[in-house]
Amino acid sequence: MASAPYALGLTTANEHPESRALPVRGTLPPWLRGTLVRNGPGRFEVGDEAYNHWFDGLALLHAFTITEAGVSYRSRFLQSSAYTEAEAEGRITQSAFATDPCRSLFERVMTVFRPQLTDNANVSIHRLAGDWVALTETPLPVRFDPHTLDTLGVVDYDDTLSGPLTTAHPHRLPDGTLYSYVVDFSKPTSTYRLYRLDATTATRTELGTHAVRRPSYMHSFAMTERYLALVAFPLVLDPLDVLLSGKPFIENFEWQPERGTQIHVFERATGAHVTTVPTDPMFAFHHINAFDDGDALCIDLAAYPDATIVDRMYLDALRSGWDDVEMARPERLRVDLSQHTATRERLSDTGIEVPRIHYASCNGQPYRYAYGTGNRTPGHFTDELVKIDVTTGSAQHWHADDCFPSEPIFAAAPGSNAEDDGVVLSVVLDAEAERSFLLVLDAESFTEVARAPAPQAIPLSFHGQFLDADAPLQGLHR
Ligand code: CO
Repeated sequence: MASAPYALGLTTANEHPESRALPVRGTLPPWLRGTLVRNGPGRFEVGDEAYNHWFDGLALLHAFTITEAGVSYRSRFLQSSAYTEAEAEGRITQSAFATDPCRSLFERVMTVFRPQLTDNANVSIHRLAGDWVALTETPLPVRFDPHTLDTLGVVDYDDTLSGPLTTAHPHRLPDGTLYSYVVDFSKPTSTYRLYRLDATTATRTELGTHAVRRPSYMHSFAMTERYLALVAFPLVLDPLDVLLSGKPFIENFEWQPERGTQIHVFERATGAHVTTVPTDPMFAFHHINAFDDGDALCIDLAAYPDATIVDRMYLDALRSGWDDVEMARPERLRVDLSQHTATRERLSDTGIEVPRIHYASCNGQPYRYAYGTGNRTPGHFTDELVKIDVTTGSAQHWHADDCFPSEPIFAAAPGSNAEDDGVVLSVVLDAEAERSFLLVLDAESFTEVARAPAPQAIPLSFHGQFLDADAPLQGLHR
């Protein structure tokens, strides 16, 4: 099978636990001090077995630290039980997104009664209960040291909130309070449970619940000053299938467009269910932002017409090419809370994935700029970075030959007033040179100011955060 030009980014990597200094080309802003930590799959085989889907790979953390002395780099595999068991046994032992371990009949029966949840937290990183954690879609955050990337163990929630499925994209207030949800599909009627988690505790407080017959696969959600919203796409689950089908997790979900998309709105303060408003069938992994506008709730997301994107990210398909794949487009769902209706508006014709905003100042507020990856050359997956002005639909682009960027992360300049006063950080795979580099763009002009090449290729990764060296709440408080 022909290999796509970015396939090196979907190849098992070695870890580099010792910090090493990197050369810097260009000039870094003197105020830019901190560490970009990113998370994503870095190992795709165990013994003779291979994972099926990009979302299955074992988590590799990597970090670029910027100090007065320059830029340094390190990477480490997250020492989850999924990883250490795989190392010890030479086989896949935990169920993943689209890969199950080979199991005997007895083991299959036992799994029905005692489903095992993976702790391979390969999606994102967040701050939770005073620690930095790696997250995936099981409620098993894995703590790590952001300086050494050492794994510190799974967070043991001090509560009884039940639900095996969650999001790796919680929302966060400036004081560190997190909002998120779990999906409980252990009973014939499933329940979405919204919760709040205060900055320094591991106790999730249930805010509100909503029962549904067929829970939706949702990768993220929306939060404004007044509301939380779950946009339930018609990629839905019959809970019994998870137990009885014998299929890996995501293959139990069915695309049922006749259900439409159901937008469930809740009061943020109380968790009370406000309304559920239907709109057309669609699919998205990522919300961009959301805000209140009088009696309306505006929810912006990176929308696909359907869920075929999930299938396109099986490793065989993804490694062989990206032809005929429609990029997600930024779209606004405007929910009229007095009329209980929703309208859709495309915000730009420029494609976008893994969207980021100036979160600290714009989350839950009207805003202007979304940063993300995009597609420039047909078949080339994400081969550019984009900055979209959602108020006009216009876009700025960054690309370089044979280069495949990861999610761009905005870091604000100190004392900035303009929404785009700062830099955008991305880890870019240079497939021709077979190495990756830290890219620093001026956010306003969207042009390169500096890059720092690593000595080897780093697998394409999903999500990260910039840990500002000067910001409060960033050090280790344990
Ligand atoms: Co994501």
